[in-house]
Amino acid sequence: MDNSATGDCGNFRKIWEVMILKILVIGSGAREHAICWALSKNPKVTRLYAAPGNAGIAEFAQCNPIAPLNFEELIAFAKNVGIDLTICPMETPLVAGIVDAFEAANLRIFGPNKSASRIEGSKIFAKDFMRKYGIPTAHYQTHTTFESAMVHAATATFPLVIKADGLAAGKGVFICPGIESAHETLDTMFNKGAFGAAGRKVVIEEFMTGVECSVLCFCDGENIVPMESARDHKPVFDNDYGPNTGGMGVISPNPAYTDEMAQITMEKILLPTMRGFKHEKIDFVGVLFVGLMLTKDGPKVVEYNCRPGDPETQALLPRLDTDFLEIIEACLDKNLDNIEIKWKNNAVCCVVAASKGYPGDFKTGFEIRGLRDYGSFVQIFLAGTKKDKNSFFTDGGRVLNVVASGATLEDARNEAYKALSGINFTGMHYRTDIGEIKN
Ligand code: AMP
Ligand code: GLY
Repeated sequence: MDNSATGDCGNFRKIWEVMILKILVIGSGAREHAICWALSKNPKVTRLYAAPGNAGIAEFAQCNPIAPLNFEELIAFAKNVGIDLTICPMETPLVAGIVDAFEAANLRIFGPNKSASRIEGSKIFAKDFMRKYGIPTAHYQTHTTFESAMVHAATATFPLVIKADGLAAGKGVFICPGIESAHETLDTMFNKGAFGAAGRKVVIEEFMTGVECSVLCFCDGENIVPMESARDHKPVFDNDYGPNTGGMGVISPNPAYTDEMAQITMEKILLPTMRGFKHEKIDFVGVLFVGLMLTKDGPKVVEYNCRPGDPETQALLPRLDTDFLEIIEACLDKNLDNIEIKWKNNAVCCVVAASKGYPGDFKTGFEIRGLRDYGSFVQIFLAGTKKDKNSFFTDGGRVLNVVASGATLEDARNEAYKALSGINFTGMHYRTDIGEIKN
């Protein structure tokens, strides 16, 4: 074999190339489907497993009905099957310490440990961290009683943002236009216990205006490398009406995130965040999601998440030109500064099709028609779905994502909506304005 191209790495490469890799992905959403799709492109990955997975993931991976918080069973499964690497993109297991549990069992896993995941698990921790390290964010105060929170609200400028401290599945943030709604929100959190312990500590913060931008970053504990930018669309209806959801669609890149914004973000937010982690002896290895508000005073942090965003991941992975597994391995080996991460110079539009009624009550069990190959520019990632014989059925609030790429955002939007017009199920709802930039 001629190793001239690989030099001294020849032997290492040879071992790596024949290695049989078994990978377990934790989760059951369209994000996990996109991750399995990206991993399946690497010829070294011989077997993919998911827990619990979904009907789309089942096309790539063996799905196992193990709950993401059942660490004992997940570890036993990983050991029995001989899993080489587990990937956990879900916040609940990360915040509960899945990485610590796997590592204690000598299993390789990609994601931040329990200490590092506090950056999403506690909004108070995240805000205090930002204050300590001078990272731009909204002014805030924290409260642990209804009375002190109300005293603050009584003299505050509205609108005011009230956030439950702990994880609340994206439902713990309230933008209150006046004192009545602040009273109602605080009463629901403190006195009615709507979010349990997660809502008995709150952050009250200043309302920021501007364009939102999601910046997901690969981190190896030493280095932070941002991915391309994205823009989520959280409210359920067009023109940002209706309640917030887990995300109704996303575009990448985000047109408002100019090179100048990216440079300021790197200097004022991403590098100080990494320095802060190191100073606090937090070893953040995984994907750090930085939610930004691009204000007239520059980018400010709205929130950190300890995992890749959903649906941002579904739009970003199709744009990635470097092998995803190679980047994950570089993060785990603290070697991120030695690889080049390349992106396609295109645009992607991802539109979510949801069940009627989502994010409130909805019915499931409707047949999904039109799931077929829509050409190489379109990927369909499934979320809440079930397969029975050869048919797919709805089984959740967010049902599927249509992700289309194009030379321009307009091309990508057109492709996405063209494909979507061929898909239907009873009660299918989607926003018609994903990527229609109005501000
Ligand atoms: P979070 O879960 O913290 O990202 O908040 C959910 C959404 O609430 C964000 O995507 C924003 O649209 C909005 N939001 C949160 N905090 C603020 C803030 N301080 N000012 C304006 N909007 C906010
Ligand atoms: N798309 C926002 C999130 O994943 O939290």
